[in-house]
Amino acid sequence: MPNVTVIGAQWGDEGKGKVVDWLASRADIVVRFQGGHNAGHTLVVGNQTYKLSLLPSGLVRGKLGIIGNGVVVDPEALLAEIERVRAQGLHVSPENLRVADNAILILPVHSAIDRAREVARGDRKIGTTGRGIGPAYEDKVARRAIRVCDLAEPETLDEKLDEVLLHHNTLLKGLGAETFEKQVLLDRLLELAPRILPYAEPVWERLDEARRAGKRILFEGAQAVMLDVDHGTYPFVTSSNTVAATAAAGSGVAPSTIGFVLGIAKAYCTRVGSGPFPSELHDATGRLLGERGFEFGTVTGRPRRCGWFDAALVRQAVKVGGIQGLALTKIDVLDGLAELKICTGYRIGGEVFRRLPAAPRAQAAAEPIYETMEGWSASTRGARNWAELPAQAVKYVRRLEELVEAPVTLLSNGPERDETILMRDPFEG
Ligand code: GDP
Ligand code: IMO
Ligand code: MG
Repeated sequence: MPNVTVIGAQWGDEGKGKVVDWLASRADIVVRFQGGHNAGHTLVVGNQTYKLSLLPSGLVRGKLGIIGNGVVVDPEALLAEIERVRAQGLHVSPENLRVADNAILILPVHSAIDRAREVARGDRKIGTTGRGIGPAYEDKVARRAIRVCDLAEPETLDEKLDEVLLHHNTLLKGLGAETFEKQVLLDRLLELAPRILPYAEPVWERLDEARRAGKRILFEGAQAVMLDVDHGTYPFVTSSNTVAATAAAGSGVAPSTIGFVLGIAKAYCTRVGSGPFPSELHDATGRLLGERGFEFGTVTGRPRRCGWFDAALVRQAVKVGGIQGLALTKIDVLDGLAELKICTGYRIGGEVFRRLPAAPRAQAAAEPIYETMEGWSASTRGARNWAELPAQAVKYVRRLEELVEAPVTLLSNGPERDETILMRDPFEG
């Protein structure tokens, strides 16, 4: 099984970018299959830090990057990101970046609706990135979305904009926000078309050829299982499926092509935006994790909420996400803590649960049940293999493996590429 699919196993920002970058050296193609520029993947390579939102992380390794049909593409954001990474010395051209011609476009109306709706929600806001992700996916299933291929057909754009604006301007008016003029949007799309279309193609065909030629494909997930629109902490989720199965539908390949599913989990837990987080810490330890882990949103700069590792949640993510092995990241952030807690389940209204129930009030009421472990004082930074890790850190990892019912196949002990300990090569299955 030569391919690997990487997904987040918590609420995002687990270090998917770093792990994908590291694995990309063994891959031929890296594919994004869902989400959009709500994602923020950080790669630290020597003295350069790359923050990628839409571009597949493999581009940094000089690999072919593919943006699949399951991704929602803001053409302005895509072009701006290409310019940004070019300024950092990366080569990006239609030779090494392909975009699915049937991917959905995010338009300025989508981010306007996203932001206006968040304001209207008040205290019950989701805490979205405001980038129009949800409204763009809504347009997709409502069958009115504009797709990359439509940029080649001015008449199609003209017709579709009528339908898009009939819907969204009505909503914007109702929300008391500014409406959009069709001609302005049309002119801008026609301006962007010649800059986007050279990247467009039916990527499923290229992926099929690659698969038949025995090329190694790495599928790069965004967000995480607990933000999945079906399996996450709904409604505090993103608007796409983030589980591994989406890699197939979101890029146009057979389910068997997704290969080994590697889930990424932090050695503790973070979340940006609103929603339940049973093991959240509101004390000095939470602040310490945030400071040591530099836990600020890559996209929005918001401080991330921090808490203990939630094994009940990751176990659930392993099951519904199809995770076969875990990459455990940021173990170094726990160095020097005298005591560590692991959430093993929840108490809700006197009942004990080993999983997070689906209903929102039950989720909000979930009290964590903790198991306590001794920490370690030595640094995990610099360890290049299992044997060089503090014994207590190994014990902690072993206990997590038992609780989440999945093996830790990769350990990350620092933000840099080579601060990675491999236990089992995911490309070997
Ligand atoms: P992603 O969205 O899953 O790709 O994760 P982000 O890039 O948004 O956030 C992860 C952050 O943790 C980034 O700043 C990474 O550079 C950093 N990081 C990744 N792995 C490690 C690690 O093992 N140790 C430390 N200290 N930082 C890490
Ligand atoms: P990466 O790929 C963390 C969160 C937002 C919000 C919710 C819905 O870097 O892990 P959206 O704009 O998608 O409608 O917002 O999802 N969210 C993320 N949180 N990491 C991400 O991506 C996220 N993408 C969206 O904060 O709570
Ligand atoms: Mg991120």
